[in-house]
Amino acid sequence: MQYRTLGRSGYRVSEIGLGCWQLGNDFGSLEQDQAQAILDMSQQQAVNFLDTADVYGGGLSEQRIGGWLKTQPKQPYVVTKVGRDGALFPDGYTKAKVAKSLNDSAQRLGVDCIDLAQLHCVPRDILFDGELLSWMEDFQKEGLIHHFGASVEMIDEAVFCAEQPKLSSIQIIFNIFRQDAVEQLFPKAQENNVGIIVRLPLASGLLSGKASSQRVYADNDHRNYNKDGAAFHVGETFNGIPFAKGLELVEALKGYLPTGMTMQQLALRWILDHRAVSSVIAGASSAQQLQANALCSELPPLPSELHEQLSQFYFSEVRQHIRGGI
Ligand SMILES: NC(=O)c1ccc[n+]([C@@H]2O[C@H](COP(=O)([O-])OP(=O)(O)OC[C@H]3O[C@@H](n4cnc5c(N)ncnc54)[C@H](OP(=O)(O)O)[C@@H]3O)[C@@H](O)[C@H]2O)c1
Repeated sequence: MQYRTLGRSGYRVSEIGLGCWQLGNDFGSLEQDQAQAILDMSQQQAVNFLDTADVYGGGLSEQRIGGWLKTQPKQPYVVTKVGRDGALFPDGYTKAKVAKSLNDSAQRLGVDCIDLAQLHCVPRDILFDGELLSWMEDFQKEGLIHHFGASVEMIDEAVFCAEQPKLSSIQIIFNIFRQDAVEQLFPKAQENNVGIIVRLPLASGLLSGKASSQRVYADNDHRNYNKDGAAFHVGETFNGIPFAKGLELVEALKGYLPTGMTMQQLALRWILDHRAVSSVIAGASSAQQLQANALCSELPPLPSELHEQLSQFYFSEVRQHIRGGI
């Protein structure tokens, strides 16, 4: 496993991190032993960067991580998110309520001070107002959080965050099916020493190459109930691309696959080839998936001609199918 610096936090984080949304049973149901196996595999693969949120499974993801951390001699960085809890979202943000949410997260995680707390896709007017960010600076000074960042939906929100002087990281959707950040965000993030955390690297599994039209997602899996954005932002499920169109695009993408490489390897290696990226928090439904993802850190970079072809493919074939804005 290779490591990169997460912006101003200075944390050396594994190139492949672990997205822990699924530990909240928001992708169907993971039994406790399956959740434990995924977390154990993260240690075996030297993954030292876990991303969760207070709302994943109503706190279940944080609780599972917190319980597991107690058994671990070596502690990974655990970053969480605040701002989508019903007490706050969409317009109930007060400093006292945000502090309470963070304290509740710290308690579930079993830590005195949160490694890094991210604003969790808060409404854009509230983000741009800046007061919430100034509270995060206060919480940092008070010792409730070590560092803070923001997880955002839109590129202009990310660019705004990259200009904040105390912010350590920005979490965005970035993958072969969503490439705009390369030009529009990465130069500024690098210039300002802001780390980039990549979510949805596999477009909710589409880019693993294993999704098929036969697959039926469980009723409690967001890939069922949010496939067209009925529950939350449409871009968070399959990258905003209608599932059938996504399958078609993956078939076309297979034409670019280098010999001996899997689609999931191509997808993750493509992201890691961008040096502005600090860590890729791929989700994993099993320990085996996490193991396969972790190995991508050791693969050689893709040829530059392939990067050019995939950029052309994105702008000519994919971008127009993304719903919800970029
Ligand atoms: N607003 C936000 O801040 C926000 C929103 C969304 C996500 N996130 C964060 O980003 C993380 C990652 O997002 P995500 O899990 O939605 O998307 P993702 O990483 O693009 O997709 C994860 C899915 O890809 C499939 N997969 C993973 N590894 C695989 C492998 N080696 N081979 C085959 N299939 C594989 C699995 O699907 P199957 O179950 O089909 O096998 C898995 O559930 C989340 O856990 C969360 O921490 C944050």
